[in-house]
Amino acid sequence: MFETLRSVMRFRRVELNPARRRLARCANVDDMRRVARRRLPRGVFDYIDGAAEDEVSSARNREAFERIEFRPRILRGVDSVEPGTTLLGRPLALPLVVAPTGFSRIANPAGELAIARAAARAGIPYTLSTLGTRSIEEVSEVSDGRRWFQVYAWRDRGLVKELVQRSAEAGFEALVLTVDTPVFGRRERDVRSGFTLPPKLGLGTLIDGALHPGWTLEFVRAEPILFANVVGRDAGDGSDAVTLADYVNSQFDPGLSWADVDWLRSIWDGPIVLKGVQRVEDAALAADSGVEAIVLSNHGGRQLDGSPPPLELVAPVVDRVGDRTEVICDGGVRRGSDIVKAVALGARACMAGRAFLYGLGVAGEPGVDRVFEWFDEGFRRNMTLIGARAVGELGHDLVRWRR
Ligand code: FNR
Ligand code: LAC
Repeated sequence: MFETLRSVMRFRRVELNPARRRLARCANVDDMRRVARRRLPRGVFDYIDGAAEDEVSSARNREAFERIEFRPRILRGVDSVEPGTTLLGRPLALPLVVAPTGFSRIANPAGELAIARAAARAGIPYTLSTLGTRSIEEVSEVSDGRRWFQVYAWRDRGLVKELVQRSAEAGFEALVLTVDTPVFGRRERDVRSGFTLPPKLGLGTLIDGALHPGWTLEFVRAEPILFANVVGRDAGDGSDAVTLADYVNSQFDPGLSWADVDWLRSIWDGPIVLKGVQRVEDAALAADSGVEAIVLSNHGGRQLDGSPPPLELVAPVVDRVGDRTEVICDGGVRRGSDIVKAVALGARACMAGRAFLYGLGVAGEPGVDRVFEWFDEGFRRNMTLIGARAVGELGHDLVRWRR
C-alpha cells in the first residue's frame, strides 16, 4: 500500500518567496488580475482596473475578442512558428508594444523600470507615459531596447518641446501623441475612493493600506512617487496630492488640433504614432497628416464611455489606410490569441496596458516577465493550432465575427 501511495503522491516544492508563490498560482492574466485585486489597496487596484462612467467600453473591448472565432486550417505542416514582424521599419519579437501607462510605480515600486527592462528582454518596444513615475533619462539608463515616448499636450507647449528634445537626446525612437484625452474621463471608482496621486493618507486609505500590508510596506519604503518627467516645472510634479482629473484638466490643452500634429513634426525627426483614433474618417486624416502609425484605441475605455471597441475598427481602417500608415490595435488584449486575432484582421501589432500592470502588481519584474512569456507562448501555440507559420500568413480568412 505504501508503495502504491508513494508512487502517486507528488508534493509541489514549497515556494518560500512570496512573490513567486503568488505567481505560481496564476495561469493567465485574468488570474493575475484577481491576485492583484487582493494584494493592492482597493483604491490603487481600482485606478488601474477601472474605466470611465459605466465602464461599458472597457467591457466591450474584451467582449469584441470573444466574438471573434477562428477558422483554423489543418495539416499545414506547421512544425515551427516565426512570431517576429516589423513595425516602423524595425524588427520586433512579436506584434506587440507596451502601451503607455502613467504612475506605474503605484502597482509596485519597480514600476516603469521593471516594465522597460522586461520589454527589452522580450524584444518588444516600451512606451513611457508623459505621466510616468520614472523619467525619460531613468528609463534610458536601464533599457537599450526600443523606447517610445507618449506625449500629452500640455497647455505649456514649451514643456512639450522640452520633453521631445529630451526624448531625442535619450535615444527614444518614436513619439506617441495621445489624442483621446482633451479632458479627463470620469473614472467613477476613483471619484468614490477619492483617489489621488500620490495616494493621500486619510482614514479610508489608512484602513485600506493596513488591510494590504505587503503593498503598503513596499510603498512606504520606496522613494516618493512623482510625475518624474516634470519635476521642478511649473506644471506641478505631483508632490502635493492631486486628483488626476484636476491635474489633467488644468494642465492639458483641450484645444489640441491637427495643426499640433504638424507642429510636433516640426520639432521631432523620428516617427510619430497617433494614439486614440476611433473612426475610419479620422484614420484617413491621420494618414493624410503623414503619421507613420496610428493606434486604434479608446484608452482602455477610460475616456469616452460608449466609444467603439478598437478591434471592430481594424478591418475597415486597414482597408482604407493600411497602405499609407501602420495600424496598431489597443484595448482588451490579454492573451497571445488576442494578438493573433487582431493581426488576422489586418493590424500590424497590438498594444497592451493593464496586462503588464497586473503582472507588476502581483510580483514586480518577474510578474511582467511572465506576462511577456504568456503572450509569446500563446501567440505561437495559437498560430500552430490555426495552421499559420508566420505573421505574413495571418489573414482575414482565418477569423470571422460570430453573430
Ligand atoms: C492608461 N493609458 C494611458 N494612455 C496614455 O496615452 N497615456 C497614459 O498616461 C495612460 N495611462 C494609463 C494608466 C493606466 C493605469 C491604464 C490602465 C491605462 C491607456 C493605455 O495606454 C492603453 O490605451 C489601455 O491601457 C489599453 O487597454 P488595456 O490593454 O489596458 O485593456
Ligand atoms: C489614465 C491617464 C493617465 O488613463 O491617461 O489614467
